[in-house]
Amino acid sequence: MRVSMIGAGYVGLVSGACFADFGHDVICIDNDADKVATLNRGEVPIFEPGLTDLVHANVQQGRLAFAAEASSIAKADAVFIAVGTPSRRGDGHADLSFVYDAVRDIAPLLSARAIVVTKSTVPIGTGDEVERILRDMRPGVDLPVVSNPEFLREGAAIQDFKHPDRIVVGTEDARARSVLAEIYRPLYLNAAPILYVSRRTAELIKYASNAFLATKITFINEIADLCERVGADVQDVARGMGLDNRIGSKFLHPGPGFGGSCLPKDTMALIKTAQDHGAQLRIVETVSTVNEQRKRAMARKVVAALDGSIRGKTVAVLGLAFKPNTDDTRDSPAIALITALQDHGAFVRCYDPAGMEQAKLGLEAAIYCDSAYGAAAGADAIVIATEWEQFRALDLARLKSVMAYPVIVDLRNIYRADEMKRADFRYVAVGRSEIE
Ligand SMILES: NC(=O)c1ccc[n+]([C@@H]2O[C@H](COP(=O)([O-])OP(=O)(O)OC[C@H]3O[C@@H](n4cnc5c(N)ncnc54)[C@H](O)[C@@H]3O)[C@@H](O)[C@H]2O)c1
Repeated sequence: MRVSMIGAGYVGLVSGACFADFGHDVICIDNDADKVATLNRGEVPIFEPGLTDLVHANVQQGRLAFAAEASSIAKADAVFIAVGTPSRRGDGHADLSFVYDAVRDIAPLLSARAIVVTKSTVPIGTGDEVERILRDMRPGVDLPVVSNPEFLREGAAIQDFKHPDRIVVGTEDARARSVLAEIYRPLYLNAAPILYVSRRTAELIKYASNAFLATKITFINEIADLCERVGADVQDVARGMGLDNRIGSKFLHPGPGFGGSCLPKDTMALIKTAQDHGAQLRIVETVSTVNEQRKRAMARKVVAALDGSIRGKTVAVLGLAFKPNTDDTRDSPAIALITALQDHGAFVRCYDPAGMEQAKLGLEAAIYCDSAYGAAAGADAIVIATEWEQFRALDLARLKSVMAYPVIVDLRNIYRADEMKRADFRYVAVGRSEIE
């Protein structure tokens, strides 16, 4: 199949490279000419494990190419749209301007047998609007519009794309179904279920899934707060809950609140869609509010760990990306935390194995260091904000020797209180009683 991917970001580039790896002929088109030039030099502009090798292999074998111009889509059997749908400034609705601009760009170029597939996360009814634009610009041509939401997780994106729990295809058009079935055939052979549903249903499945995951995280975060008040251990509570198959253990990890490029904006967009249709989603509304407050509230944990004030003190923050194995700092809890620490008067030194360049774009006042130990130098406390593998086995004696005071606030619960006690650290975690 000939596939065009509009947008070569986290989703477009991973999906394009994986489709090429399945044997399809793929071109990724991005209107960011610098990004395309970078890709054409053989460099991959994002940090995603395994992606550089996958891109190189498929470019070499002639199945994957990049372009800034959409002209090549004339030959495509399927054109996927994977552009960003960020929160619209001011009201929290999904900003669909990138999607509609992309549709207007491709409309004149599509062949009469092409199908258009929305991979971006878009609110219910967006597919109808895309169809309207195509009908207006290409009257008399039947160009089916399909919703095929993406569920990959950054940091494990290739694995997720190649071994999905499910593939959701939203269309009632028989031709579009058979094109999508052919494109995903290698996965279907691996027994990944394809769920054929209506387009609006597919659009809602994506939002409902993300809102549910966000709810699970927020639920365990509130249980963690309760654990701290009553002297219970949230790790054991989560394990005890998660062993129940009806609940499951995933997304029951307490921490500083959910962040990233999807959950915060998608929960907000779902709330707005529901309000527009007169169907209030009170649970999701609460989840969104509780989570936003939580990110900054984590700074109070640091204040408490430093005996009530951090003014003029130095705090080292380990981790800036919203989760390990990505450089993505969009809506990262670490960024909100750092701003809150600075508002309380602290000096912040920070380190992240991959997210420093992105973080620098929005967070200037922090000092960026070249290692965890560099960040810890002279610090009154360390905060672990992202659970990167390399932060799980820090040399505690070395840390202690470079810090002003041995205090660790572990917002990801990656250490045990007894090992910290043995190493003579004051240790504060989430949802667990402090051992003095
Ligand atoms: N990042 C994730 O983990 C993830 C997972 C599932 C779904 N999604 C959804 O997928 C979509 C894309 O997310 P992302 O993280 O890949 O975004 P991104 O910002 O990393 O990438 C979007 C790309 O689209 C390009 N672009 C914008 N307008 C264009 C146009 N008219 N023509 C060509 N290129 C254009 C941009 O230059 C950018 O490179 C969003 O709707 C997001 O919600 C993201």
